[in-house]
Amino acid sequence: MTDAENTPFPSQAPPTPAPQVLPPSPAAYATARSVLADGGLVAFPTETVYGLGADAGNDRAVADIFAAKGRPSFNPLIVHVLDLAQAEPLVQVDERARQLAALFWPGPLTLVLPRRAAAPLSLLVSAGLDSVAVRAPSHPVARAMLAAAGCPVAAPSANVSGHVSPTAPVHVAEEFPEGGGGRLRLILAGGRCPVGVESTVLDLTGERPVLLRPGAVTREELEQVLGPVDLAGAGTGIKGPGMLSSHYAPRLPVRLNALDPRPDEALLAFGPDAFIRGGHERLNLSPNGDLHEAAANLFAMLRALDKPCCTGIAVMPVPEDGLGAAINDRLRRAAAPR
Ligand code: TXA
Ligand code: MG
Repeated sequence: MTDAENTPFPSQAPPTPAPQVLPPSPAAYATARSVLADGGLVAFPTETVYGLGADAGNDRAVADIFAAKGRPSFNPLIVHVLDLAQAEPLVQVDERARQLAALFWPGPLTLVLPRRAAAPLSLLVSAGLDSVAVRAPSHPVARAMLAAAGCPVAAPSANVSGHVSPTAPVHVAEEFPEGGGGRLRLILAGGRCPVGVESTVLDLTGERPVLLRPGAVTREELEQVLGPVDLAGAGTGIKGPGMLSSHYAPRLPVRLNALDPRPDEALLAFGPDAFIRGGHERLNLSPNGDLHEAAANLFAMLRALDKPCCTGIAVMPVPEDGLGAAINDRLRRAAAPR
């Protein structure tokens, strides 16, 4: 018998390798650069959540983001840049965008702007729209990676479509245990994300600015610069593709504004008054009632409470002001009918 005949025939395809996990270092950024240049995917921390990044000019790589996440192809991606100068060849930047970028970039604000015809971007990032969402993240690891990559990086949150967004490297590894079919080759492990909820998405393609997704830059802050900002939803005709109602969803059902958790429910509490009885497992978003702390804890605590020993997650009310609007937006989607 020859060696070839001796080799057992594999009964199924071998498992794809888990992604490499590297803490930030010059060598890690060089690896990120070569993975991106080779059309692979790199997960990286931003101040909001971890992103699943690809070279935004590479069709195959951008298609792989959709495939790895199971993301519907009609949901466009955010293109990450270092600064406004890197965004200018991609989108038409008007005076409003210039003002906002000067005030809030780098930071958790995404601007949807008209796409330039000659933009060196895969058409897939726009998902058929004639606009592109651009954002300059402030996280030092994201910035060092963008600088090393030398190209705009398309990146949605690094979770399977519809799941809770990742705010720590371990969440990314849990979402893609086999690297999304081997497509995710590297996780840049930069610790926990300080903001914890995704960027504010503002549509500037029309005359009136429209808030597509509330985030850390609040509607009030935007209105101080722009005047009235409309809310996306019924009436505006804008379909914020991120407005698919069920999203950010743990496996367990989520019950909002709960003041009476059942003994078999997990309790996600908020504030100093979390004295109420019940709650099989309990975590408090912020015992002091601090909305920044609550946002930073939100997704990690939803994940931690999402355990088979409970029948659901009961969530105490969170005030709607400031970052509370973004927190409640994510909670409503986590609780939406699936
Ligand atoms: O904080 C964030 O924004 C994170 C980090 C990684 O930057 N990214 C993120 O990406 O949350 P994703 O794909 O999970 O959410 C992007 C949102 C979606 O709701 C998408 O529909 C919307 O932005 N979006 C992207 N491009 C758009 C466009 N051209 N027009 C309207 N909405 C757009
Ligand atoms: Mg997402």
